[in-house]
Amino acid sequence: MSTQATDHRNPGDSPSIIVEDLTKKFGHGILANLVLDSVSFTVDQGTSVGLVGESGSGKSTIAKIVCGMYKSDSGRLTVAGTDIAPGQRFPAEVQKAVSFISQNPFSSFNPRLTIGQSLVEAISPLSTQPGRHRQTIVEWLERVGLPADSAGRYPHEFSGGQRQRLAIARGLIRRPSVVVADEITSALDMSVQVQILSLLAELRREYSFSMLFISHNLSVVRNVCDEVMVMQSGAIVERGASEQILTAPTHPYTQRLLASIPGSPGFSLVD
Ligand SMILES: Nc1ncnc2c1ncn2[C@@H]1O[C@H](COP(=O)(O)OP(=O)(O)O)[C@@H](O)[C@H]1O
Ligand SMILES: [Mg+2]
Repeated sequence: MSTQATDHRNPGDSPSIIVEDLTKKFGHGILANLVLDSVSFTVDQGTSVGLVGESGSGKSTIAKIVCGMYKSDSGRLTVAGTDIAPGQRFPAEVQKAVSFISQNPFSSFNPRLTIGQSLVEAISPLSTQPGRHRQTIVEWLERVGLPADSAGRYPHEFSGGQRQRLAIARGLIRRPSVVVADEITSALDMSVQVQILSLLAELRREYSFSMLFISHNLSVVRNVCDEVMVMQSGAIVERGASEQILTAPTHPYTQRLLASIPGSPGFSLVD
């Protein structure tokens, strides 16, 4: 499968995401859990950077901070060219510029709204009247490979793969410059995952958004990312070009992650 994304960087562009010495704790006192420990990285404009690591390593916490759903405790955060201080709410223009596509599109679609109503809400948050945006909605449904009459149907009428297509349409319909995708194919069968990853790579070529793509699976990340960062226990331990990380990882943790992928050179069913 050739879904490698195109490089849309221009010299002089400032990065779409800058994270510097970011920390985040949950809880207080002796029960406090330091989930992000001085995390730093950038995502350049038009590039796609993968974030991999085992469950509980802090990937979703980073995703939610970058999208304004969680606040950090300290550190620098710049999203789409705007600095956001720890504890500050995202200004409206930054909220518009960044989209979060979640791991579980079923729970994130309101079961009582038609798909058309959910999509119009994504375009214009105070409205659930599809009429005004009908043309845009139909175009996006077709763009993600679904029939135009999906607009009048409800979330439960779609399969897991179709719902993930709907979630992608909802995430992109406002034309964000930054997309954060958190484990968006993890719940799907391998053949459906491949289709969704190809769609995402195609949409990136067409719309040039920057992407932070999170997965616990290194082989999934290679299909849509220029570079990969590896996270362990709240810290980024390695970063490199996708092919380099997959063929010549230097950190022992990355080597262990790779060895857990069926079909990879170091794969073994026994520890
Ligand atoms: N809202 C929350 N309240 C308390 N602890 C949380 C919350 N969200 C995440 N955590 C904890 O933070 C750690 C990292 O979680 P998460 O970022 O979801 O990891 P990942 O996405 O890599 O699986 C885990 O120990 C998790 O229990
Ligand atoms: Mg997660």
